[in-house]
Amino acid sequence: MAAMWTAGTVEQLRTERSAMKGSVAFVPTMGALHRGHLALVHAARQAADHIIVSIFVNPAQFAPDEDYESYPRQIEADLAACREAAVDGVFCPPVEQMYPPNIPECTINVPSMAHVLEGEIRPTHFAGVCRVVAKLLNMVRPDVAVFGQKDYQQLKIIEAMVADLAMPVRIVGMPTCREEDGLAMSSRNAYLDTPQRQHARGLYKALLEAKRLVEEDGETDPEAVETAMEQVMMAHHVEPQYAVIRHPHTLAELDCIEPALTGGVVALIAGHLGETRLIDNMLLAEAG
Ligand code: PAJ
Repeated sequence: MAAMWTAGTVEQLRTERSAMKGSVAFVPTMGALHRGHLALVHAARQAADHIIVSIFVNPAQFAPDEDYESYPRQIEADLAACREAAVDGVFCPPVEQMYPPNIPECTINVPSMAHVLEGEIRPTHFAGVCRVVAKLLNMVRPDVAVFGQKDYQQLKIIEAMVADLAMPVRIVGMPTCREEDGLAMSSRNAYLDTPQRQHARGLYKALLEAKRLVEEDGETDPEAVETAMEQVMMAHHVEPQYAVIRHPHTLAELDCIEPALTGGVVALIAGHLGETRLIDNMLLAEAG
């Protein structure tokens, strides 16, 4: 098997990509790779002949008061993990490669979904995500791109962008990988101290409570489930930012939980443990 290549420039990436025969699956990341990312790589291997991973901490999706500077960076360990996972090549550009000066900025907006939930709290976030993902897809030209349901709203927005702009790529969404106590794996978990790490399981517990209420008790009132999730979060010292039940495809609010009508519902939560902000979600009452 050929050694894994790394490309730091768009030109190098295009040269390597042109030399690849067969289908290509792409896994975009911001690095600090964990088991969740590697599960996407594994799915990529099932989906295509070759795998390209990108590692790029995208400044465009961080607001000025967010953690762009402190976001964990560990390129050598990430490259070793990619090599171990039999990735064909890694694109890890510096900022000037992704955002060369003197090119007028272009914005992609998915208005129906980008301004609620995460988008309400982080108003410029999804424009930054769409811009970088569109650029990466144009640079890598994959047949398949793999994303995690961990960032459920991001996945839905990318699916919408790809569908509406007729981008020639198939988007695959993979289930969330969790720690043993249910905490969703995230590069930001590294920010938690020991007591906060204990409390962080409250996010998963809140989602499990929503699942129980909807699937076992047949609760149909979204507000009742939302209140229950907030209570579980607070009981675990997680300060809720939102805890909502939404339509699984459009993220629209629901008057009534009718899973048979909407193909299940999604519970989405965000909360703070000290300075650290974590998000999680769970699909409830899915068919089949
Ligand atoms: P990042 O947070 O590094 O995540 C990269 C991919 O891994 C995303 O598709 C994310 O949903 C997925 N992922 C993260 N944690 C996961 C888990 N516990 N289980 C399964 N999948 C998980 O998301 C981004 O980077 C960026 O916004 C990006 C799409 C790369 C654009 O900059």
